[in-house]
Amino acid sequence: MSGLVLRGVGAGYGGTPVLSAIDLAVPAGTAAAILGVNGAGKTTLLRAISGLVPPSGTITFDGAILSGRSPEAIARRGIAHVPEGRGTFSGFSVEENLRIGGASLARGEVDGAMDRVFALFPALAGRRRQIAGTMSGGEQQMLAIGRGLMLRPRLLMLDEPSFGLAPKIVASLVETLATVRAREGLSLLLVEQNLVALEGLVGEVHVLSRGRLILSAPPQDPAVREALRAAYLGA
Ligand SMILES: Nc1ncnc2c1ncn2[C@@H]1O[C@H](COP(=O)(O)OP(=O)(O)OP(=O)(O)O)[C@@H](O)[C@H]1O
Ligand SMILES: [Mg+2]
Repeated sequence: MSGLVLRGVGAGYGGTPVLSAIDLAVPAGTAAAILGVNGAGKTTLLRAISGLVPPSGTITFDGAILSGRSPEAIARRGIAHVPEGRGTFSGFSVEENLRIGGASLARGEVDGAMDRVFALFPALAGRRRQIAGTMSGGEQQMLAIGRGLMLRPRLLMLDEPSFGLAPKIVASLVETLATVRAREGLSLLLVEQNLVALEGLVGEVHVLSRGRLILSAPPQDPAVREALRAAYLGA
């Protein structure tokens, strides 16, 4: 299948397992979310996909095996990971942050990639020289996404992009993601706590509980709310 496929994936830290037996697919062009309580393993799952923690089992992307490859090789294969807390360099300018995102591009490709990001995010274009740390939370999230888009990924993974943002900003972020997705033909995999914000954006949500996937269903499915309620109540 084209897109991302995980089969029997596990991961952990220093011999302590966190994830086990994860089967999940994000077909090319689709958008999905991972939900679950704090500590369920959501971040670890994104890190396993992007090669930041070594996974067991098999991960393929457009048919190519990713498991065992380095984060750089996985990024080159078309997967971008915007980490929890955004990962931008607060002391560097917007333009410098984007250049860092494009560091593995050939020299002649960086300006074109940056122009593409500025076309997607006109609000950033007027702030090329602004120091990232002085921007609003919403603007910094746009920068983090823009940085992730520098290598023209086919799958964009975002770890809690709405964290710390006011509801109005979250709504505009969701709208931006929908636009970027349509314009770039991207697949999305986001970690979120905010189910309501996701309803128009993703076609499927995957609920993670104590390192296992307990449900995959459309966001409107009442079973999702039930699974989340049970997870939050520790049932
Ligand atoms: N670097 C690490 N070393 C050891 N244990 C870790 C490390 N990172 C995460 N863990 C543990 O792995 C488990 C899952 O953490 P993870 O960050 O994946 O959860 P999460 O679902 O993203 O949580 P949150 O909603 O708080 O971001 C937790 O028990 C956590 O303590
Ligand atoms: Mg997390």
